[in-house]
Amino acid sequence: MASPVLPSSTPTTISSSPIQTSFFPKTSQLFLNKKIKKPDYSGPSKVVSCKATNNGSKGDSSLNRFDRRDLLIGLGGLYGATNLSNDPFALAAPIAAPDLTLCGDATISDTTKETVYCCPPETTKVIDFKPPTYSKIRYRSAAHLVDPDYLAKFTKAMELMRALPDDDPRSFKQQANIHCAYCNGAYDQVGFDQDIQVHFSWLFFPFHRLYLYFYERILGKLIGDPDFAMPFWNWDAPAGMPIPAIYVNPNSPLYDDKRNVNHQPPKVVDLDYNGTDKDITDKAMVQSNLKVMYKQMVSGSKTASLFHGKVYRAGDKPSPGGGVVELGSHTAIHRWCGDPRQTYSEDMGNFYSAGRDPLFYAHHSNVDRMWSIWKGLPGKKRNDFTDTDWLDASFVLKKKKKKYWCWKAFS
Ligand code: C2O
Repeated sequence: MASPVLPSSTPTTISSSPIQTSFFPKTSQLFLNKKIKKPDYSGPSKVVSCKATNNGSKGDSSLNRFDRRDLLIGLGGLYGATNLSNDPFALAAPIAAPDLTLCGDATISDTTKETVYCCPPETTKVIDFKPPTYSKIRYRSAAHLVDPDYLAKFTKAMELMRALPDDDPRSFKQQANIHCAYCNGAYDQVGFDQDIQVHFSWLFFPFHRLYLYFYERILGKLIGDPDFAMPFWNWDAPAGMPIPAIYVNPNSPLYDDKRNVNHQPPKVVDLDYNGTDKDITDKAMVQSNLKVMYKQMVSGSKTASLFHGKVYRAGDKPSPGGGVVELGSHTAIHRWCGDPRQTYSEDMGNFYSAGRDPLFYAHHSNVDRMWSIWKGLPGKKRNDFTDTDWLDASFVLKKKKKKYWCWKAFS
């Protein structure tokens, strides 16, 4: 599947100088994956993973084109077994969409064990999503460069989303909860005693792309503009490195008060932030950031697994390892934005709350843009995975009022 929204033609700035800056993961409250409590569920099992659509569809009749989830069902069912990890087939199936009826508490912190309930409102309808065919490409623009007309539209859309009742799946609150549920362990993998975690593995880019896609479509629909596209925080280019000004007006629906007060514009973001502010000039920070970008996008991500992260299949323990952008600038920005006055660095500094800050979606629009840029860089191995367990991973996301869409990532 092609990217639903192509990156803006705004050129990305990548320094050609060598790099020494470290981008290794840091311990933080973002690194969560464990949940502790599930409500009992005694109703009938309901399969919510998307139907297979790609059997042989690419003209490949070999066994690995077979939908292996069907094998799992044949072997006792996705729901029949509690743990199939000793079964050879169990090691070869994509992460399936969660059963929404089995959503439980999400864990905010492994240390304090504090939990939060962020499951979606009850639903009866989960339908397979088919991406529409577009006649027109929608372009996202850099948030620091948008014009007043665009800003007025975007502001209106966010205002309308915030005004939706909390139990509407399209509401600001429920959209933020999606991130909480998928990232703080509210869902088990169907048929396995393992959480679903969309970070720290090859699911990172696909999940967030689909999540943004629906967010953007909801906003477009609310203002009656099917061509609406979200802005991106252009943190890879010097002029875009501070938090974009449109997000810091306290009277705007783009504002969030749980942010680090010391990191307001014109402060330049630190793409290598490890929890401590560096005592360097803006100019030096920009230089450091450009080196980080070069390392993450060019020298350090020459293969799919370096860029995307490690393989994560049905039955696997969550968080096998993230790609360089995810662990590097992506995580650094979350931590840099989060408010140190809050217990868990809310909002951006913790997965459960990150989606409550409108800035999150601009941040991830740029993360998504990095994916498109990476694919276009020279190098034979800069291609996405062709493994069907990556292509067929599926997620339930929400778009319409009473309907949930199940989207199989890329097949
Ligand atoms: Cu799902 Cu930036 O995190």
